[in-house]
Amino acid sequence: MKSVYNYDKLFELGNVDPKVWSSFTEHLGRSIYGGIYDPDKPFSDENGFRKDVKKAVKDLNLGVIRYPGGNFVSNYNWKDGIGSKDNRPKTMDFAWSSVEPNTFGIDDFCQWAEEVGVKPMIAVNLGTGDIRSAAELVEYCNHDHGTYWSDLRIKNGHRKPYNIKYWCLGNEMEGDWQAGHMSAADYAKKAREAAKMMKWVDKSISLVACGSSYEMLPTYLKWDETIMKDLYPYVDYISTHNYNMNSGQGTLNFLSSWKQLDNHIQNTKNVLAYSKSLQKDPKYQNKDIKICLDEWNVWNMQDIKINNLDDLNGMTTFELTDAKKWEEHPAILQEKYSLLDALTVGGLGITILNNVDQVEIACLAQLLNVISPITTDEDGHLLKQTIYYPFELLSKYGRGTVLSPRVSGDTQATDYGDLPVVTSATVYDKEKKQLHIFALNTDLNNDAKLDLNFAGFSKVTPKEQIVFTGADLKATNTFEKPENIVPKTTTPSQDVANLSLPKASWNVINCDVDA
Ligand code: AHR
Repeated sequence: MKSVYNYDKLFELGNVDPKVWSSFTEHLGRSIYGGIYDPDKPFSDENGFRKDVKKAVKDLNLGVIRYPGGNFVSNYNWKDGIGSKDNRPKTMDFAWSSVEPNTFGIDDFCQWAEEVGVKPMIAVNLGTGDIRSAAELVEYCNHDHGTYWSDLRIKNGHRKPYNIKYWCLGNEMEGDWQAGHMSAADYAKKAREAAKMMKWVDKSISLVACGSSYEMLPTYLKWDETIMKDLYPYVDYISTHNYNMNSGQGTLNFLSSWKQLDNHIQNTKNVLAYSKSLQKDPKYQNKDIKICLDEWNVWNMQDIKINNLDDLNGMTTFELTDAKKWEEHPAILQEKYSLLDALTVGGLGITILNNVDQVEIACLAQLLNVISPITTDEDGHLLKQTIYYPFELLSKYGRGTVLSPRVSGDTQATDYGDLPVVTSATVYDKEKKQLHIFALNTDLNNDAKLDLNFAGFSKVTPKEQIVFTGADLKATNTFEKPENIVPKTTTPSQDVANLSLPKASWNVINCDVDA
């Protein structure tokens, strides 16, 4: 099996924005409580932040972290989470049928984000929340001083404004499961008015409109078209979500489901082009809106009462199979990821790279304990799940300029049509004079040959090949066997036109180049 990728140094697809490697943490299960925040424990610092988590998150070198939801945000009152922790109310979180203690809020998140070196991306409540409260949150976070909410932030111990740049106008508002779910026309109107007020407070902020999140909903894309007619002048990004689920379609189809994400991005891109063409005001006829893929991952919904993603249609709540209702931070959505899941995540990462001309923000959902690469226990141990590794390697080496290839060679029949056996992306780091080649071999039975041709470079020398594979695609990492499945570094063929990829493997091949 051979796949041929022809590159030319001059054919640049686009630069990888640092926000392409971002993540998301929600008040959900043990993501915040027990993940980020675990006060009065020997393994936490004086603010109650887990030290092991801070280190693991820093190592991922993330662009932004989206907070506080997710479905949670649509019934969240951010004012419950500020001021003295003793006075904060316990409230009902309808998204996950949990009790929210509110001992962690916006100030705690911004402080933690600064310590781990990432920028916050904050979602406002456009479900049950009103537009004034959204503008007040911007005032609380970004206004220097001299008004009620900015002075309250200072009184709460935070002299300097947080200057948060990225703001999401709600979450999955097209879904019936969302508190305050509404029609596209109603959302457009509310989001537009919220956007106006939020920008009156701080005109430097960038806003994300809430686009279609699930392809199977009857409103898919029609929603985007309707909202963008109105919102085009007011926003900078449209969000979309993409979860890939292994629900019995077979290993090859699941491994090839990077194509689902690719189709989804192309669809969103087409709606954006159409919305742009409708703009009458010359000011907006040249304005480009980028895609904010603010939730992506493999999610097998191990403890949600649905069999496949189609079941989301008509669903009015995310019901859990065995969690008790109204507990504080219950251990829910703690997905256990296999090697196969990790290879699929690696394929999704390659797809994101191959769409960096459109996708400027992408958040792996989520970061901690909930459908996440990092899992913690209650005794101070931290586990890197299988999906941690491709994500870490993408964040480490997937920075620079993505080159645009012509692809030929062997294909395989999948549910998504005939696809190349090897899916690949190449990033050119001009400063370090390196090429990083990411490649997924979806052939389950045979090693593959990868033939790369690079016009315009005088020499390309493969230096190391990091290989992620194993005999058992179901294998996982556990607290007992934390390094059961980890990538291995090998020496590749010195001929970039004759690289070898083990069957069912995800690879990073790092090369030196003479430009
Ligand atoms: O990430 C878990 C949930 O998935 C989020 O709360 C929601 O936005 C999405 O449906």
